[in-house]
Amino acid sequence: MELKNLDKIVTLCKTRGFVFPGSEIYGGFANTWDFGPVGVELENNIKKAWWKRFVQESPNAYGVDASILMNPRTWEASGHAQGFSDPKMDCKSCKQRFRADNLIEEHSHGETEAEGMTTEQMEAYIAENKIKCPHCGNFNWTPIRQFKLMFETSRGTVEGEKDVVYLRPETCQGEYVNFLNVQRTARAKVPFAIAQIGKSFRNEITPGNFLFRTIEFEQMELQTFCKDEDALRIYEETKKRAWQFAEDIGLKADKLRFHDHEKLAFYAKAACDIQYKFPVGWEELNGVHHRSTWDLSRHQEFSGKSMLYTDPVTNEKYLPTVVEYSIGVGRLTLAALCEAYDEETLEGGDTRVVMHLHPAIAPYKLAILPLQKNLSEKATEIYSALAKEFMCSYDEAGSIGKRYRRQDEIGTPFCLTVDFDTLEDGMVTLRERDSMNQIRIKIDEVANYINEKIKF
Ligand code: GAP
Repeated sequence: MELKNLDKIVTLCKTRGFVFPGSEIYGGFANTWDFGPVGVELENNIKKAWWKRFVQESPNAYGVDASILMNPRTWEASGHAQGFSDPKMDCKSCKQRFRADNLIEEHSHGETEAEGMTTEQMEAYIAENKIKCPHCGNFNWTPIRQFKLMFETSRGTVEGEKDVVYLRPETCQGEYVNFLNVQRTARAKVPFAIAQIGKSFRNEITPGNFLFRTIEFEQMELQTFCKDEDALRIYEETKKRAWQFAEDIGLKADKLRFHDHEKLAFYAKAACDIQYKFPVGWEELNGVHHRSTWDLSRHQEFSGKSMLYTDPVTNEKYLPTVVEYSIGVGRLTLAALCEAYDEETLEGGDTRVVMHLHPAIAPYKLAILPLQKNLSEKATEIYSALAKEFMCSYDEAGSIGKRYRRQDEIGTPFCLTVDFDTLEDGMVTLRERDSMNQIRIKIDEVANYINEKIKF
């Protein structure tokens, strides 16, 4: 799929109610997006599927929902207050701003990893390779300056007295600071995991590509606390589970690949991304990181509170090692949209746009379509009963063919038509989105039939 198809997906998202540009009536607000009626269902279903897999079905995993605003000491402990910045360069000719590390990686087609290079090394590389501005083609750069990625705001309780607070740039710190609260209240034994889904904020220099990189986004993060000797095994297992989840919600294996990090943070023992082949190329979908005891040790140091875990059998006290799995909801939603989007040529030469979304994440599971308006009483009765089971859409406007197309475009896996025979025999026609096959089925059997198909 080429870049132009991302434009098609953006257009479809806007016209069908998946995603609207943020603050659109005011001319928009760059790189913010609002999820519409269909998009919010898709996102919620993705989050539900993730939570089911990594919390509900994982006996040693527990959820939290921590505050977005945290004590600013948190960000000193995590290193974000001092070091969470990107190396930016401005083109003096066209005034466009770029990340120096991105310029290097794009120039070398991913062969040179800029992560870990010093500012001087990056400047030297750009000068030696005469990397030009991708926008205007000139070689006329400012020196590299560090650009802080955390959004700051202030909290004033007394007039004139203001404290800087940060919008969290990642959710995991809320999991680390609650490590012992969760462990004690859940009586959890190492290894166990804490999961969280929530908003994060980053003042990205180069956001873009629709939902791929935004300044406000949701993350789904899972921290597994374990003995250091078990961490590499758990890291490998987490990589596999992350991959399996991506495949299970519908991403094809040939568009996924592992990308091991060559340069690691000094405390880390291993790190890997799963990349997805987006319309713009291979890009990070999620990260899996072996973080050693770094996070807990830093919070212990900065809070002055012990973060030690006591082994209930041996009474040994130690700081567990953390294995982290982190994925952006918007980025995964974008991958699911890209994977699902299809333009099919039908017999007779017509084309249809269809979103082959996995039924478990499809916004609506069923559309109820009376063949004619004077069947709406029966159709509404069916809608009321089935809407208790799953999200249903109701549509009686336009020809049946057009109504099928509308549902195909938002990925509804089943359409149910009510016809005059329904009034006699209590049967309806169920049409499946991908094959377009139709079956006759008793109204009473529809709920079970669909519940079976949308299981995750
Ligand atoms: N706690 C670790 C952490 O936040 P990260 O690699 O910076 O690690 C993890 O982010 C995941 O969050 C990414 O793999 C991506 O899916 C998502 N993500 C990060 N920045 C994002 C942004 N600006 N917009 C959308 N998603 C983002």
